[in-house]
Amino acid sequence: MENFEVINPTRIIFGKNQLGRLSELLNVQNANKILITYGGGSIKKTGLLDQVLNELKTFEVIEFGGIEPNPEFSTLMKAVVLARNEKIDFILAIGGGSVIDGTKFISGAIGYSTDPWDVLTRKEGCMFTSATPFGTILTLPATGSEANSGAVISRHELGAKVTMGGPLFFPVFSFCDPTQVATLPKRQLANGIIDAYMHTLEQYLTYPMDNLLQEREAESILSTLIEIKDVVNHPRDYRLAANLMHCATHALNGNLRCGVITDWTTHMISHELTALYGIDHACTLAIIAPRLYENRFEDKKEKLAQYGKRVWNLTGSDAEIAKLAIEKTESFFQSLGVKTRLKEYTDDYHKAPKTIRATFEARNWVAMGERQSITPERVEAIVEAAF
Ligand code: NZQ
Ligand code: ZN
Repeated sequence: MENFEVINPTRIIFGKNQLGRLSELLNVQNANKILITYGGGSIKKTGLLDQVLNELKTFEVIEFGGIEPNPEFSTLMKAVVLARNEKIDFILAIGGGSVIDGTKFISGAIGYSTDPWDVLTRKEGCMFTSATPFGTILTLPATGSEANSGAVISRHELGAKVTMGGPLFFPVFSFCDPTQVATLPKRQLANGIIDAYMHTLEQYLTYPMDNLLQEREAESILSTLIEIKDVVNHPRDYRLAANLMHCATHALNGNLRCGVITDWTTHMISHELTALYGIDHACTLAIIAPRLYENRFEDKKEKLAQYGKRVWNLTGSDAEIAKLAIEKTESFFQSLGVKTRLKEYTDDYHKAPKTIRATFEARNWVAMGERQSITPERVEAIVEAAF
């Protein structure tokens, strides 16, 4: 087992009918002037925004809506200007991963005196050194952003989708109410399952390293997600929705990475597909993961076999099981209605392998994966195989 150090200060308030706790938690933070951030308006349709405003009658509240899926730098900068002008002291994000990620960026950029893009592009010496505290009300179980300190920000005009994060960016609290799942379209439910599944696989499908607990925990998240996949057809089923939400949070709250080597190359390649084509995050993972596992079969075959046996109950030789486990994974994604080939999303697919290879080279991502065996050349081959 690898050495590890972990901290997660986010208070998770899980379950239905918990919003009555909101003002109490804000008072603990000495919040006074609150910026509510949200997306394209689903929280108005569902009535959640009204419910929240009702709980916040004793606070000064300013709203900033319109944060788009794959949150855009230029939109977020408008919120930064608003927050500075209004001297807000707390941000409440209501939405899915995009709103929460965008809020993490806003919270860091408020106190940053020069161009925050320099931080996102890791310009030497540039980093956020303060963050306005924020809490979240989760409406889409998928990313785990409600329980971690990472964020992914896009800048369309530059074709960029980049990550940020650090200890400053844990939410102070997150309300995780499974009844919010009821209004999600099937597409977003499938996305949520796949994103949580892939967060688990990125931290599990590497090589055996004797961390028996983390392996079993990962396998139990994977098995649970398979067991509750019918939530895509029954989002009002509380049992299914609650287990999806619990799995998604648990898959990326920092626990699964304890004492193990992780990979994350599927995510790194997939973010580039979203940057190029605007494809939903989870769909890009479904396109890349099976091809990456085929390409790195020798590196990952022991864990693929373990995964095949324990999660899919496969039998046969280890090599047969490992191969079948990749097929099972791809069929699982397809069974949720998600397509696993790039051609099925765009006609302009030919440019992807070379463009993404060039991005990896430019960022000096030349030895990725748990064995540092994923070179830009292999990235090109993986993307080409995903046509
Ligand atoms: O914008 P609104 O109107 O709210 O609609 C949203 C949006 O159109 C809708 N939605 C959310 N909750 C709803 C709802 N519709 C009806 N009922 C509800 N209860 O769903 C659409 C998608 O929302 P979005 O927040 O974009 O989805 P998701 O949560 O999948 O977030 C994706 C973003 O998170 C990043 C991705 O790259 C992407 O930018 N990620 C963040 C991570 C993190 N911070 O740890 C890790 C992930 O790997 C991922 O990269
Ligand atoms: Zn993800």
